[in-house]
Amino acid sequence: MSLQQLINELVRDVPDYPKPGVMFKDITPLLADHDGFRAVVAAIADHAHGRIDKVVGLEARGFIFATPVALALGAGFVPVRKSGKLPSETFAATYDLEYGTATIEVHRDAFAPGERVLIVDDVLATGGTAEAAVSLVRRAGAEVAGLSVLMELSFLNGRDRLKDLPIESLVTV
Ligand code: PRP
Repeated sequence: MSLQQLINELVRDVPDYPKPGVMFKDITPLLADHDGFRAVVAAIADHAHGRIDKVVGLEARGFIFATPVALALGAGFVPVRKSGKLPSETFAATYDLEYGTATIEVHRDAFAPGERVLIVDDVLATGGTAEAAVSLVRRAGAEVAGLSVLMELSFLNGRDRLKDLPIESLVTV
């Protein structure tokens, strides 16, 4: 079975969650499957190009994949968190959601100048979260080497907001 088939089998579609009309991609069956989880982490690490100094994970589900990828690449891990969760000085970025806005933050001293960063998340949907994360990493003085996601919802055109950024997705829906 290909990695794509494995992911499609282990990521569960939950209709009308969190609200009517939304098909939620539930990664918990994949995480519970040792072989599937390990294969996904290995594939994300394999797709990284060049030197990676830090892997950034986007709260919350991005943390789950970014942490083992960082260990596999010999890199450090940096969390990008939702507003108010990081204890030291931060940079913040606000982006639009379907209804309202969201703010994410990173520690100002998370990176050494010029470090190369891979951003990892579970899903690329509208691209708002990833676009905000890219701006945070750059403001903190690092270089974004790429974005890697388990699943890309191509009908939401997130890629269009992230022009000139190398994007790897293991599965495109
Ligand atoms: C989900 C997902 C991505 C983001 C993708 O996170 O994990 O981070 O949305 O959407 P976008 O491309 O439209 O920005 P969510 O905000 O639901 O957070 P969670 O992981 O804490 O549930």
